[in-house]
Amino acid sequence: MDKFVIRGGNPLLGTVRISGAKNAALPAMAAALLTEEPVILENVPQVRDIETERKLLATMGAEVELGYGRAQHRTTICCRNPANPEASYDLVKTMRASTLVLGPLVARMKEARVSLPGGCAIGARPIDLHIKGLEKLGARISQEHGYIEARAERLRGAQIRFDRITVTGTEDLLMAATLAEGETVLENCAREPEVVDLAALLTKMGARIEGAGTSTIRVQGVEQLHGARHRIIPDRIEAGTFVVAGALTGGDLTVAGCEPRHLDALLQKIQECGIRISVTDDSIRVTGDGPLKGADIATEEYPGFATDLQAQYMALATQCDGVSIVDEHIFENRFMHAQELVRMGANIKIESHRATVRGKTPLSGAAVLASDLRASASLVLAALVADGETIIDRVYHIDRGYERIEEKLRGVGAQIRRIGELLPKRAASPVAV
Ligand code: EPZ
Repeated sequence: MDKFVIRGGNPLLGTVRISGAKNAALPAMAAALLTEEPVILENVPQVRDIETERKLLATMGAEVELGYGRAQHRTTICCRNPANPEASYDLVKTMRASTLVLGPLVARMKEARVSLPGGCAIGARPIDLHIKGLEKLGARISQEHGYIEARAERLRGAQIRFDRITVTGTEDLLMAATLAEGETVLENCAREPEVVDLAALLTKMGARIEGAGTSTIRVQGVEQLHGARHRIIPDRIEAGTFVVAGALTGGDLTVAGCEPRHLDALLQKIQECGIRISVTDDSIRVTGDGPLKGADIATEEYPGFATDLQAQYMALATQCDGVSIVDEHIFENRFMHAQELVRMGANIKIESHRATVRGKTPLSGAAVLASDLRASASLVLAALVADGETIIDRVYHIDRGYERIEEKLRGVGAQIRRIGELLPKRAASPVAV
């Protein structure tokens, strides 16, 4: 297993370019199951989860050409003759977003057999809301041997209200509804930019959708969808991670090729901490040259403070004077990074869904363990300001959602290198987008 070795103390200086959003590319790839024509996606990030989704779609009979090394990272998916409506446990257990194929399979192939994802490091992560919504659309659902089986001759439009806001639940049912007969109204929907991006792709494919990005989405079902070309939005969580890195290291870092308006909650909060930023249409410049002061956050669904940036913010809070309260309201176990930060010298107390961070505490390098994607990012950030050397094990967690993170960090002055098994020779470095 690969490790990162990071020596702290260097302020990040210069410009880092953001890749496409993993959490927009994953539903977009699943959407290709809805048509027999090719779907061409640009700006797909070169991360492990995308490779997992490629394997998953290939087992269903789709032809997937990942665009690494091509201009615009252009990825083509064509599911002309889907043969196998099954998402097996060995793939789903490595990436729960595999459940995004459930809705498209039932809509296109009239059946689906998808392994229940099981829990993960950050929580139980059930998919009961996906299943209830599909039943409302007329699918007959059974569950056995750890698999969900869904069947429907043709889905019928319905009014569906989510008991709680779910991002992939909204995306799954939005995709299913595009081929259902009649109108579907989805209420209490997720408003994340990734949902809006998926709706934009589906509309290019011929779907009739109104209200994406609001709590109520209306879909008029159509008989079939056609191919399309679509550019994936920038990854707001990667961008937010680098914004925190610039703030934390007291650097002068420009995060380029991002959508600043997707990061309002984070940018407002770090300015409260005393960080100076300047924003253009597609970049955020962070200069962290003064003392930082603690500020509280509570994670919420978009446009609130993103749960996927909570761990990164906690690393920053350890370097802020005073107390920062971090409330995690989305997942039940998303403080795995806290104990590793404590081992590096942080002062963090956990009580239920609340972490109380007292700073500023000097951090010292240590051997630490990555546990999940965003917790790992938090440890990288802490290592950038720790005294001495930090070794982070199991960095495959990071590789799931960050493209070439060690190269990007080295490019702006960080002392970071990857050690471990010899990596397969990477495809030619992607053409600059
Ligand atoms: C998406 O996960 C993201 N993943 C997650 O990013 C992100 O943390 C999460 O949304 C919240 O923003 C992708 O988009 C691929 P949810 P998702 O359904 O859709 C409960 C990352 O780091 N729930 O919005 O799985 C659930 O347990 C990943 O990139 C049900 O109870 O999250 C959670 O408490 C991690 N029943 C809450 O809702 C359901 O059927 C929100 O989950 C579905 C969800």
